[in-house]
Amino acid sequence: MTVTNGHLTPCNGVDSKWWREAVVYQIYPRSFCDSNGDGVGDIRGIISKIGHLKELGVNVVWLSPIYASPQHDMGYDVADYRSIHHEYGTMEDWECLHKELNNAGIKLLMDLVANHTSNEHQWFIDSRSSRDNPKRNWYHWQPAKYDEKGNRQPPNNWRSFFGTGSAWEWDDHTQEYYLRIFAKEQPDLNWENPEVREAVRDVTRFWLDKGIAGFRVDAINYICKAEGYPDAEIVDKSTRFQPAMHLYMNVGNVHKYLNELSVATFTAYDAMTVGETPYVSADQQALNYVHPDRKEFSMIFQWEHMDIDRVPDTMLKWKPWKLSEFKEIIRSWQQVMYDNGGWNSLYMENHDQGRSISRFGCDELEYRELSGKLLAMMLSTLSGTLYIFQGQEIGMVNAKTWSLEEYPDVVTRTYIQEEKERRVQEIGVKNPDMTYLLRDIRLKARDNGRMPIPWNSSEPYAGYTTGTPWMPMNSDFAVCNVEKAVKDKSSIFHFWKKLLSIRAGWKTLIHGSFEMLSPEDNKIFAYLRKLSGAQSALVVLNFSSQSVDWELPVDVSHFGNVRAVFGNYAVPSGIKKTFSMQPWECRLYAYDDI
Ligand code: GLC
Ligand code: CA
Repeated sequence: MTVTNGHLTPCNGVDSKWWREAVVYQIYPRSFCDSNGDGVGDIRGIISKIGHLKELGVNVVWLSPIYASPQHDMGYDVADYRSIHHEYGTMEDWECLHKELNNAGIKLLMDLVANHTSNEHQWFIDSRSSRDNPKRNWYHWQPAKYDEKGNRQPPNNWRSFFGTGSAWEWDDHTQEYYLRIFAKEQPDLNWENPEVREAVRDVTRFWLDKGIAGFRVDAINYICKAEGYPDAEIVDKSTRFQPAMHLYMNVGNVHKYLNELSVATFTAYDAMTVGETPYVSADQQALNYVHPDRKEFSMIFQWEHMDIDRVPDTMLKWKPWKLSEFKEIIRSWQQVMYDNGGWNSLYMENHDQGRSISRFGCDELEYRELSGKLLAMMLSTLSGTLYIFQGQEIGMVNAKTWSLEEYPDVVTRTYIQEEKERRVQEIGVKNPDMTYLLRDIRLKARDNGRMPIPWNSSEPYAGYTTGTPWMPMNSDFAVCNVEKAVKDKSSIFHFWKKLLSIRAGWKTLIHGSFEMLSPEDNKIFAYLRKLSGAQSALVVLNFSSQSVDWELPVDVSHFGNVRAVFGNYAVPSGIKKTFSMQPWECRLYAYDDI
């Protein structure tokens, strides 16, 4: 049998780019570990837990923003790129963290947030101070429009990414609007201005000069806006402001500016980069960001698999999805990168998502560990750089019992507020019952991924803080905490550990081709991984709470020298034509292709 999709030798080969084989652990500092009892995670807290990261077996840490910030969007609103947010510590603390991580053999990625700044950044304060300030043109300022009745209107009908309101904010002082795709405290920088691009390069070099390994680059395909800010076509007649992603994402000079930034900084320092790029498809559009010849990013965070359960053009409305659709998204990304020499990132969680067990597995007590292990096996047996979000390694799940008031995130709050206003209009009641929103919020709200980490089972706050946590903790910490997971050799934590060590020693899993089996099946996700000169892999995952008999759609005589490698139930030794898979069972086999 030859390797699939026409390649005898994989395009990617096994090259010297260390980050391809890296396992990255994302830390959301606010919720990781609080060292001084103020209820807010901090850098000293992270330093105290480096042993945990080492034990898990990761070799890179990505730190979500720790820069000075008023925290309207939890640090993704940066007020000063060169200083540390006071609640998190000092630059000395950061230097110490960097050193201690490196001593433990762990590299550090910082989060570069350059599509926008905080409205408290000095650049914006200057820009806003007068129309003729030299920094005026560092942001997008536009005059108002007026309707027939003479009422002031924003310059166009673009909808903010964080709700259904306008993407423009009125500034009384200078009598113009500024553009802010995200929250009103996050004005978008004007990348058409060469001074802005130079300033971003300076900030990037500032951190690279400290010896970090690279960056996760926030919302980076938003940096260019359609020339002249044209109105978006009306697709949603129920509201004034229209989805305009196609007018502010992946447009204009975006590739020119990213190449310029990369050549001057990332490439010059041989840094690892992962660009966060929602609304990018698995074709030339993705390759334009990641193909090595283009010198933009090492890889991107695509969002297609994360958006599968979202009603388009909404933030938090859940929609049902089919496993076959999910599988096809994974297949398309695996294939496009393998066939064309690009590179994938692999993730199922981050601070913008609900927990994967609750969304893609089953978070009932009976199946939460099993389905978490299955998801871990899926991620660890795909090609790309693997990302684990804090808490994923112990199988954290979403909050199940919170009321609407308990969700602090700006997106969740905006969503609830807007839905309430709509409902008031609709039924003419002052205080309508909004609890019907809870189903979707409990699945999808970003808050679910941001809950503090339970380090042990101690009351009241599970070793995360001795004070009061900045946001509520998940109440299930007696069953799910780090200490327990590390002690129990059969836990999801040890499952992850084992998978990471299997992956590290088996190049096929990281670099090989991907061939999907039974694409239409809505319970079984099964695939073959192949790499010339190395053993092939067969992965079978039962994405359901039922037992399933699945027939292998390949001639079993092609499987030579079969080895049952690992699974979340005992794995039968040989590969037979029919598989009887238990609820949420996952299996990994190694074999020689004959
Ligand atoms: C990215 C971040 C998200 C943030 C947004 C605006 O999507 O991951 O947390 O709210 O950008 O910076
Ligand atoms: Ca603290």
